[in-house]
Amino acid sequence: MADFRASVEAARTCRRFEEDKPLDMADLEWLVECARVAPSARNAQVLRFTLVGQGPTCRELFSLTRWAGALKDWGGPHPGERPTAFIVILMPEDGNHVVCFDVGIAAQTMQLAASSRGWGCCMIQSFDHTAVPKLLDMPSDMKVALVVGFGVAREVRKIAPMPADGSFTYWRDAQGVHHVPKRALSELVAARY
Ligand SMILES: Cc1cc2nc3c(=O)[nH]c(=O)nc-3n(C[C@H](O)[C@H](O)[C@H](O)COP(=O)(O)O)c2cc1C
Repeated sequence: MADFRASVEAARTCRRFEEDKPLDMADLEWLVECARVAPSARNAQVLRFTLVGQGPTCRELFSLTRWAGALKDWGGPHPGERPTAFIVILMPEDGNHVVCFDVGIAAQTMQLAASSRGWGCCMIQSFDHTAVPKLLDMPSDMKVALVVGFGVAREVRKIAPMPADGSFTYWRDAQGVHHVPKRALSELVAARY
């Protein structure tokens, strides 16, 4: 088994996919199965998951999402490299900030799970918050917390050291490799006792 640190490093956000190798419903159910057994505040397990496989709803949902705002000369995945599935994480309309912890835990669990199978994943908060709930058959009293796109990964993503100017913006090099700067451990540890 790979070192867990290496697994986490490999599980970078992915925004280009093998569109001709779609994930299927069983794949999506397996991802939710992983999230199902993750921690949950009070163990209340209030989140619900809408599974969207390749097809018209997937295409429509994709059109309501925004990808890589920092890559100004790229408007998101081109035809042929678009996500082949989405999992939409729903939370109670009146859910408080503690429920948002559950959302993050579920999303990261699915991201790690996807990466373990060579799939890529992008969590998307930048989506049309009016149109997405209208597109999907929403349970009453639930709202969309996060949209997560999936597919077989097609792009190389690498962690980079934080540049001297402290800019945390990710970038893509001439070879199309996606670089993600991460702060050093020394910057993250606030105190030691
Ligand atoms: C809560 C959350 C919301 C995000 N929303 C978007 C989004 O709307 N569009 C997008 O392209 N990426 C989105 N991302 C992905 C981040 O841009 C990405 O995590 C960040 O660039 C660091 O890259 P890494 O995941 O490879 O470490 C989101 C990530 C998180 C955790």
